[in-house]
Amino acid sequence: MSDFSAFWSQSRERVEAALESVFSAHDETPGRTGSAMRYATLNGGKRFRAMLVYGAGMTLQRQFGDHAPGINAPDNEEQAGTLDVIASAVEMVHAYSLVHDDLPAMDDDDLRRGRPTCHRAFDEATAILAGDALLTLAFELLASDDLGAVLPERRLMMVRQLSMGAGASGMVGGQSLDIDATGKELDLDQLMQMHRMKTGALIRSSCVLGGLAVNNASLEQIRALEDYGDALGMTFQIVDDILDVTADSDTLGKASGADSRMEKNTFVSLLGLEGATKERDRWHQKALESIAPLGDNDGLFHHLANFAVARSY
Ligand code: IPE
Ligand code: IPE
Ligand code: MG
Ligand code: MG
Ligand code: MG
Repeated sequence: MSDFSAFWSQSRERVEAALESVFSAHDETPGRTGSAMRYATLNGGKRFRAMLVYGAGMTLQRQFGDHAPGINAPDNEEQAGTLDVIASAVEMVHAYSLVHDDLPAMDDDDLRRGRPTCHRAFDEATAILAGDALLTLAFELLASDDLGAVLPERRLMMVRQLSMGAGASGMVGGQSLDIDATGKELDLDQLMQMHRMKTGALIRSSCVLGGLAVNNASLEQIRALEDYGDALGMTFQIVDDILDVTADSDTLGKASGADSRMEKNTFVSLLGLEGATKERDRWHQKALESIAPLGDNDGLFHHLANFAVARSY
C-alpha cells in the first residue's frame, strides 16, 4: 500500500503543478474570475480523477513493470506530460461541477474542501463564471499542443469522451435528475441512473481518457476501462452518500448531514446504512471483476477501487 500512497502523492503533485502552470499561462483572465478559478481548483481535493487518468495511462503503457508506479520516472516524461494535461482537464471539469453544485440554487453549501465554497468566498455571479470558464478551458487543453503525441483521431475521441462525461448525458444530466428528485422518492433503478450520470460519468471518462492517451491501446481495452469506470463511479458516489451520514464535517471538508437536510435521494435514504454498504460492496466487486482485460501488472486498478471504498473523506 505504501507504493499506492506514493502514487497518490505523486499524482497530486503532478496535477497541481500542471494546473498551476495552465493558470499562469492564462493570466489574461479578468481578475476576479481568474482568482475564483484558481481558488476552486487549487484548493486540495483527493485528485481521484487525476489518479484515474495517470493510472489508466500508465498501466496501458506498461511503462512500469511490476514495481512501484513511479510517474516521475524520467524515461516516461513525455507520456507523463500528456497525462498531466488530461488530468488537469478532468480536474477542472470536476472543480467546476463542485462550484455549481454548491450554489444556493443547487445544494446551497457553505463549506468545500475545508474552506468557504466559491460563491461564499467570492459571489454567485463570479462562481458561475468561474465554473463556465473552467469547463471551457478543459476543452481548450485537450485541443492544445501540450497534449503531445496523441494521434488526431484519438484527440477527437477524447473531446467526445469528456463532453459525454460532463454534459447532458453525463454529469449535467445527473445533476438535473438530482434536482428534479429532491424532496421526492426515487426507486432503486432511478437512483442508480442518477448516480451513474452525476458522478459515474466523469469517473468513467477519466479512466477512458487515460487509456485514449495511449495510441496503441486497443478498443477492447478502452471498453474494459468503461466497464471498470462505470462500476467505480457507482462505488464512489455510494461511498459519498455513506460518508455524508457517518463522517464529520471536519474530516469531510464539507458539511456532513447535508443530504438529509436537503431531502436528497441517496443510497442511505433509500436502503439505510446497511443496505447502502451492501450495494457499495456489490459495485466494488464489479469494478474488481472488470479489471482482467487491462493487464493490471502493478495492481493500480485494484488499489484505486479499494481507495474508493476505504477513503475517509
Ligand atoms: C465529491 O467528489 C463530489 C462527488 C462527485 C461525489 P470528490 O469526493 O472527489 O471531491 P474532492 O475532489 O476530493 O474534493
Ligand atoms: C455531486 O454530488 C455530484 C457532482 C456532480 C458535483 P453531491 O452533491 O453528493 O456531492 P457533494 O457531497 O456535495 O460533494
Ligand atoms: Mg449535489
Ligand atoms: Mg453537493
Ligand atoms: Mg454528497
